[in-house]
Amino acid sequence: MFVTVLLLLVTLCAQGGNGEERAAAQRSGHVSVVIVGGTGDLAKKYLWQGFFQLYVNQVRSGNTFSFYGGGLSPADTATSVLFEILKAVSCSKDVAPQRCALLKEQFLRLARYRQLKTLEDYRDLAEHIERELQQEGMTEAGRLFYLSLPAFAYVDVADKINNSCRPTGGAWLRVVLEKPFGHDFRSAQVLATQLGSSLKDEEMYRIDHYLGKQVVAKILPFRKENRKFLDPIWNKHHIERVEIVMKETLDVKGRISFYDQYGVIRDVLQNHLTEVMTLLTMRLPMNLSSSEEVLQKKLQVFSSMLPLRKNQAVVGQYQAYQTTVQQETNKTKDHVSLSPTFAAVLAHIDDAQYEGVPILMISGKMLDERVGYARILFKNDIFCLQNPSGVHCKPKQIVFYFRHGSLQYPAILVSKNLFSPVSMDGDWKEVTEHTEVNILGLPISDYYVQTPTEQKEAYSELISHIFAGRKNSFITAENLLASWALWTPLLDSLAGSYPRIYPGGADNGDLLDIRVNGKDIGYNSEVVLISPEQMGGASANSFQVMQGKFRSADMVSAWPEELMERLAADIQEAAEAAVSEGGVFHLAISGGSTPLALFHRLALHHFSFPWSYTHVWMVDERCVPLTELESNFHGLHDHLLQHVRIPYFNIHPMPVQLNQRLCVEEDGGAPLYEKEISKSVNSSSFHFVLLGVGYDSHTASLFPGSKVDELGESLVALTESPVKPHQRMSLTFSAINRARTVALLVMGKGKHELITQLSRVKDNPDKWPVTGVKPADGRLVWYIDYDALLG
Ligand code: BG6
Repeated sequence: MFVTVLLLLVTLCAQGGNGEERAAAQRSGHVSVVIVGGTGDLAKKYLWQGFFQLYVNQVRSGNTFSFYGGGLSPADTATSVLFEILKAVSCSKDVAPQRCALLKEQFLRLARYRQLKTLEDYRDLAEHIERELQQEGMTEAGRLFYLSLPAFAYVDVADKINNSCRPTGGAWLRVVLEKPFGHDFRSAQVLATQLGSSLKDEEMYRIDHYLGKQVVAKILPFRKENRKFLDPIWNKHHIERVEIVMKETLDVKGRISFYDQYGVIRDVLQNHLTEVMTLLTMRLPMNLSSSEEVLQKKLQVFSSMLPLRKNQAVVGQYQAYQTTVQQETNKTKDHVSLSPTFAAVLAHIDDAQYEGVPILMISGKMLDERVGYARILFKNDIFCLQNPSGVHCKPKQIVFYFRHGSLQYPAILVSKNLFSPVSMDGDWKEVTEHTEVNILGLPISDYYVQTPTEQKEAYSELISHIFAGRKNSFITAENLLASWALWTPLLDSLAGSYPRIYPGGADNGDLLDIRVNGKDIGYNSEVVLISPEQMGGASANSFQVMQGKFRSADMVSAWPEELMERLAADIQEAAEAAVSEGGVFHLAISGGSTPLALFHRLALHHFSFPWSYTHVWMVDERCVPLTELESNFHGLHDHLLQHVRIPYFNIHPMPVQLNQRLCVEEDGGAPLYEKEISKSVNSSSFHFVLLGVGYDSHTASLFPGSKVDELGESLVALTESPVKPHQRMSLTFSAINRARTVALLVMGKGKHELITQLSRVKDNPDKWPVTGVKPADGRLVWYIDYDALLG
């Protein structure tokens, strides 16, 4: 009876419809749509509306439908809830009110609630579908299950569907899943494998609703249609920066149990913003509708991304978040959640096209406005002599404006000083009349603006794609794992980081402003967490550089930034003195993370440093290929060498890899380096040696108990580290202590204990290797920041 009504009504209303879906080559017939979690929030907000839209578009396509809202509650309590939701669906503007009322009435008749809890319930549903198909003599086209459920339920429900609800006779099965798809690479992999045992990849539709947004879906077509303008400028020579931003004003009340485990990076950056980033930067596929080709190009982007490190992210948390966590999870007052509700991440693609272009991805809750956009900001090399506010002097940019914000509608904006874009297909129109509004630094009249003729909800768009079996706008397992592979190391390195607390809304002021600093980012404004009074000690109060003595050598102490400034200045002074004396400066640098801030200081503030006369040597190296992230040379290269004009032949990496093997004594790497030093450096005496100190007081790669005094006169040796990678190559004390100046750099609260101990112990290089640093004719200076000094 139910289906009879349906057939009758569908025949009666055979008007309107949308050719797009019909074009997909699939047989028509009866389609059963099951929303598992059909009375939940997402279903209520978007899904039923999306399926109603599908129904309206398909009503005369030759397909018939039945809709089921599934849930754990029994039908007698949930049916009325479902119908309240269904009553709220609406038609688009182009459907006449009368027709809309009729369609809605039909839709309501075609929908019903079903309890879907046990395998038996799923079996009953399948039997019900089959019985009705048989009774009405209909051919089945397919079954669409939309799992609007918490992710932990996916595997079980997929299994039940597989065991009881597979259609027969050539009809399709499509199962739609919503993120989160795991919370890191491993869990995503496990989930993919588990789901793979019930469903084929082509049956799974992983939703990222951003791909259904009209502007996001238009990125590739826009790039293709405007190729002749974009080809010459879509590269590192012209692009200043890419920004992909989703700001929200909402908090996460009511979602804490989910959100607190994920945080903003997993919730938004790993998926929505990453997808946009790949669409903006992938090589243009020849055939935009080939999902296989689009996927391959996307995967290429992932494989050329530089790994994301801790220094490339900042995190924040809105002030009221802790209270909400305590309330919604019944945690005690002393529970502290470190989940970020704001994050900014700087990514780079390491290929010839985009090398060095900063790609910023930013999102947060409780910000000043709700807006989503991607902006490609181009370099502007025009100097306007008379009229600096002339159009050519203004920012050159393309903005993919997803929605909301000051514009309020989705649009693609091209600043008029770039080019006039090709008009897009019939679904888009040019906007020529606008109320004056400023979009990212330019009045709207300075842009060419195109917008969709009709605004469509992302979910409705994606539902029509699922129905048409178009997989382009969905996330494949490979795509998902590639994205997690990018984000997981960053998430791991941020675990335990304290987010910057922000008040929320307009009060955030400039607290969350970001500064790009070479390959790193940071907050633009430093927040003094502890007042100078709390620090105690007159020297720390003054924020000045303090000079003193440590272990009877000279000591310079300051806050990190001032300390770096001072050390960089001292190195430059030593370099200039050496160059004016002998035309060359020999600098030996150690590895680890402590000197990175110094490298940045040198690269970004010391433009008059005599790099052309400088030779850079390594204090120590790990026995790994120099191309590995772990290699000291790799770090030195990334953070310093590639940013300064130093002749290639002045760079002296340690020969840890010889004869295609690593640090084998017979290969003679250590004597080889020693020979190179003796040949190039006068009396093998470096002008400046920069050393760090490890928690166990090791320096260079000279570790406690490694009998370093037995190395005799050798300048370079193979040594053993207690931590991985165990094998090292290092300068010995003989080499270090010949230097003119040795700087020992110690930073961070974590080193306070060590500094306290070192201030007390006698020289004993076997136990406390750093105490073996005693330049014979040179000078030793300790550079210790206040954190390490005062704890
Ligand atoms: C969802 C996130 O995927 O996207 C939410 O889970 C976020 O936290 C939402 O609010 C934003 O989507 P939109 O479409 O409003 O930009």
